[in-house]
Amino acid sequence: MNKKFLTIPLLALSLLATAQQKTDQAIDQKVKTLLGKMTLEEKVGQMAQITMDVITNGKDRFSSYEPVALNQQQLEHALVKYKVGSVLNTANNRARTPQVWHQIINKIQETGKGRLKIPVLYGIDAIHGTTYTAGATMFPQQIGQAAARNRNLVYKGAEITAYETRASAIPWNFSPVLDLAPDPRFPRQWETFGEDPFLISELGVQMIKGFEGNNIADPYRVASCLKHFIGYQVSASGKDRTPAYIPDHVLRDHHLPPFKAAIEAGAHSIMINSGVINGVPVHANYHLLTKLLREELGFKGLIVTDWGDIENLHTRDKVAKDHKEAIMLAINAGIDMSMIAYDYERFCDNLIALVKEGKVKESRIDDAVTNILTLKYKLGLFEKAVYDLKQYPKFGSKEFEQAAYQSAAESITLLKNKGDILPLKKGIKLLVTGPNANSMRTLNGGWTYSWQGEKVEEFAAKYNTILEAVSAKAGKENVTFVEGVSYKMDGKYYEEFENGMDKAVTAAKDADAIVLCLGENSYTESPGNLSDLYISDLQTQLAQKLGATGKPIILVLNEGRPRLISKFEAQMAGVLQTYLPGNFGGDALADILFGDINPSGKLPYNYPKFPNSLVGYNHKPSENRTVMEGVYNYDAEYNPQYEFGFGLSYTTFKYDNLKLSAEKINSDQELTVSVEVSNTGNREGKEVVELYLSDLYATLTPDSKRLRGFEKINLKPGEKQTVIFKLGKKDFSFTHLDGKSVVEPGEFSIKIGSLKKNFNIN
Ligand code: BGC
Repeated sequence: MNKKFLTIPLLALSLLATAQQKTDQAIDQKVKTLLGKMTLEEKVGQMAQITMDVITNGKDRFSSYEPVALNQQQLEHALVKYKVGSVLNTANNRARTPQVWHQIINKIQETGKGRLKIPVLYGIDAIHGTTYTAGATMFPQQIGQAAARNRNLVYKGAEITAYETRASAIPWNFSPVLDLAPDPRFPRQWETFGEDPFLISELGVQMIKGFEGNNIADPYRVASCLKHFIGYQVSASGKDRTPAYIPDHVLRDHHLPPFKAAIEAGAHSIMINSGVINGVPVHANYHLLTKLLREELGFKGLIVTDWGDIENLHTRDKVAKDHKEAIMLAINAGIDMSMIAYDYERFCDNLIALVKEGKVKESRIDDAVTNILTLKYKLGLFEKAVYDLKQYPKFGSKEFEQAAYQSAAESITLLKNKGDILPLKKGIKLLVTGPNANSMRTLNGGWTYSWQGEKVEEFAAKYNTILEAVSAKAGKENVTFVEGVSYKMDGKYYEEFENGMDKAVTAAKDADAIVLCLGENSYTESPGNLSDLYISDLQTQLAQKLGATGKPIILVLNEGRPRLISKFEAQMAGVLQTYLPGNFGGDALADILFGDINPSGKLPYNYPKFPNSLVGYNHKPSENRTVMEGVYNYDAEYNPQYEFGFGLSYTTFKYDNLKLSAEKINSDQELTVSVEVSNTGNREGKEVVELYLSDLYATLTPDSKRLRGFEKINLKPGEKQTVIFKLGKKDFSFTHLDGKSVVEPGEFSIKIGSLKKNFNIN
């Protein structure tokens, strides 16, 4: 680029940085002054966060009467007497209109500011759109956004979510989830960007930028909250909130990079992992919270607990003999704010006593409160905590819906297309069947209008289910619907019942093809714990019986994690993974089925074939052995049903001319890699070009490969594009047992598509 053109943006950038520095200094000064005026009680109150049910009319603290209304007495007890500084969540686990949100939060702000006029910090889980606001735009869950591999779409989705969250008078969002999620057994894999640290880092940064913009005081931006620091989704049992065992070098190489990148991108808050690592609950881990997060990563924002997790140190994990000791351990480890949820009096009274007894230093309290007040200032809450609803004319607009549709369309992943069964021909007679065929709940998943997603049908009636969208596209007269198997809509999320399986088989005989919609009902967290990774027995039976008819079947998966389908996959002609695509997933799928959209999603995880073969794409060499070695009959066959990065298109792409800028480099030199990609088919299409790096020999057995670059490009038929990647020290390195990052000299290999080239590091 011409230097003349570079100087202007650089100048603008440096002016911006200086202005930012000045604002930050001014805020530091204001915080210091304010802190100097606060009593211990006021400071401790700032560190307390309660859930909305606690301050509403209701029979107890755990639920609210409808229509929801704040209870003045409870409100004053919490916010005035106890000086609680933060509130989260909705009441009664139910979405509210923006108008109701404004009424509630205005009243909270009015009552809560107290003698020092400190605004209340309201937080919510707006994780794929503004979860708890009726009429908000619902995007694919993060796992689908990871499949789309499109940085711009992630940014745009977060920007819209920030807008609609602020339109609901809420400035703080508990998102994104940056957990490494290599385990399909875990009930929250769908809340993540999948199993690769590089992919998570790249998309996480975009999400943060979309939420926060350049200035979180902007009335259309929110503060993000990275979660769940760190190592949450790799519990040994595969169940939620159970212990994990993570060696330090694995933590650093695989779990840390997304958090590090997010902190460098300026994220303003972070939530702690509810679980236990190597025997120590993370909420009580001084080494992780203070040494690693604060001192090594230099994180300056607010550290908040997860729900009730200080209490858990005593009641669940038994590392504290009582609640008071639990509070001491957590605050001394580095927690700034406790998401207490309910019993705030116990937290505040105990913490005040601990300071008076010298068991928690007042300097630690000052430090925590500084972080909280700084965030409140940075969000502009002292000037204006709630903006007029009229400032948000785009809330739930067509423009926003279009972005959600686009994201869904790019996320859906074509995994099989035998005999080019897809796209379907116009006029084809279809049987649409399966428990996920006619459900908005399953398209959205958890954290949609309610925690477990159980209230979706009530709020999302105007959007199209798969059945509705396919019927609109194919013509109603061409579609027969028999559910075959149904989810029970109350009770456990996984309970199902037989609902006309034989009728579905009979109907199949009159159809040209079957669209079989299988997967899971909605869930999150512990209610989604799983004991059997195979897709349910009833759904398996339905698939097998339909398979026996010999009619071509297009299997549409709609699930939060890859449930095993190997008992019938061979009987399927086509397979499409929709993940949890949100309110426009039905429309996007129908457009893909009939060829109006060319699929471009790529798997963000390995789709396993068997329950005892759950290794990730970046497994170790010894995890990929099929032959007898020495005296051992070594059964470590690497056999995913579909591999990370896999996804078909209706067109074909060809990769040529993989070039490296050098065959030998020093470890601190940059390597430029280029490759030509052409569309050799007869349709326009998007391709995700992925670069994998392998360190061939290393002192610690190396990962077989690591994703180190990806670009999504669009090519017309016959069109060709050169894609360029730059690699550096960070990409070549790995962590030794002593926690130090190193680049070991030797041979490395680069793989893009099926092309491969080696180079050496001196
Ligand atoms: C979840 C968090 C969430 C918090 C607040 C917890 O149960 O683990 O992800 O942000 O609740 O709703």
